[in-house]
Amino acid sequence: MIEKFPEGFLWGGAVAANQCEGAYNIDGKGLSIQDIAPKGIAGPITDEPTEDNLKLVGIDFYHRYKEDVKLFAKMGFKVFRTSIAWSRIFPNGDDAQPNEAGLKFYDDLFDECLKYNIEPLVTISHYETPLNLARKYDGWTNRKLIGFYENYVRTIFTRYKNKVKYWLTFNEINSIVHAPFLSGGILTPKEKLSKQDLYQAIHHELVASALATKIGHEIMPQAKIGCMVIAVPVYPMTPNPDDVLKAFETDRSNLLFTDIHVKGKYPSYAKRLFQENGITIHMEPEDEEILKNTVDFISFSYYMSVCETSDTSKKAGEGNLMGGVPNPYLKASEWGWQIDPKGIRYILNTLYDRYEKPLFIVENGLGANDQLITGEDGEKTVKDDYRIRYLNDHLVQVGEAIKDGVEVMGYTTWGCIDVVSASTAQLSKRYGFIYVDRNDDGSGSLDRYEKKSFHWYKEVIATNGTAL
Ligand code: BG6
Repeated sequence: MIEKFPEGFLWGGAVAANQCEGAYNIDGKGLSIQDIAPKGIAGPITDEPTEDNLKLVGIDFYHRYKEDVKLFAKMGFKVFRTSIAWSRIFPNGDDAQPNEAGLKFYDDLFDECLKYNIEPLVTISHYETPLNLARKYDGWTNRKLIGFYENYVRTIFTRYKNKVKYWLTFNEINSIVHAPFLSGGILTPKEKLSKQDLYQAIHHELVASALATKIGHEIMPQAKIGCMVIAVPVYPMTPNPDDVLKAFETDRSNLLFTDIHVKGKYPSYAKRLFQENGITIHMEPEDEEILKNTVDFISFSYYMSVCETSDTSKKAGEGNLMGGVPNPYLKASEWGWQIDPKGIRYILNTLYDRYEKPLFIVENGLGANDQLITGEDGEKTVKDDYRIRYLNDHLVQVGEAIKDGVEVMGYTTWGCIDVVSASTAQLSKRYGFIYVDRNDDGSGSLDRYEKKSFHWYKEVIATNGTAL
């Protein structure tokens, strides 16, 4: 282990509005795509919000955030990542005026963080496109979304410029390829969505992202604006050159997103990808200029690596949206996500070698089925040694990457307090240091309890990593 993480390292935790806030129709909030997706990625889309949708109440963070931020402060958080629910600010997405009550909520939340010297790290769009934009425009397939997003970012940058220094433009922007509805608000079913429309939607998001960086730098010269991707090391299944090339291609299909964000233009290899798939990106004359507004840092989620093979008889494994085939050297979580601590060192080095830009790990963690028990002191708790082990092993590898020379700005664990899961919309898939008493059937008091990992993380932060 390294002796110490860098001075000012941003330790903290992350959530997203749609997975924790609840209050889905309170204080003028409009519906988002999450309000009609009760079972997560693979599940059905309903006409109206239905009672079985756990996200409608979430963990009631909207009303309990003061209690929660206090617990984050008790752990010593330096940073707290959350998203702004777009439809709290612009209920239909295409409204001319923002909703003041929505703006006020985030003012209060950010003030509460700052009270404890916790920096807010804000995701502008985290899988929660206003539903109206999905229904009326088919989400990001329509260029008009750039204008609506521009209006939204101008509004929030102007409002929070003195409170928020760190911004992320789109959560896991590369996930649109796997989950076009969740990630891009695209209602056209995935199997019917042409590659042409998919990559045109991606282009719109990339232009919007660069535009946000431009506007953000104008309104808040001190701010740091980053992109956010799912980072996945792609290993060839065997030394067969066909497997190696397959892994290389899959890797590039992800790197395309960071290449454009960091280099400010489409890479040369995109030409062949587009040609062979019959894709012609329609560009407006200003797009090339806009894309030149490159990010200040790269942030990413890291949960797993994947293996690639050229053998088409092999079945793709279940990943965090990412597919791949199972790696025989790795164990998996209860939800089948393969655990690979060394992969985080590998991906940090890969990204830093390619870009030499600061990196921020904004999601990492273990989804597990926790059991609430009564501890020796009579307090309810969870003995989540498996979570401590997972996080410890990953952080040791982050330390190795720092020793390798990689510039790492910070680390926010995913779901620092239990939230509703994104892929399966369950509460029983828990990531938190703080247990929330709510179950998959919606029952529970919503009370909060400190898990064993709460105290472990507190120590890690207090010692700036030397306790690992
Ligand atoms: C990331 C998302 O893909 O993974 C989060 O940005 C999500 O929103 C996290 O919650 C973990 O996934 P899941 O499905 O276990 O909640």
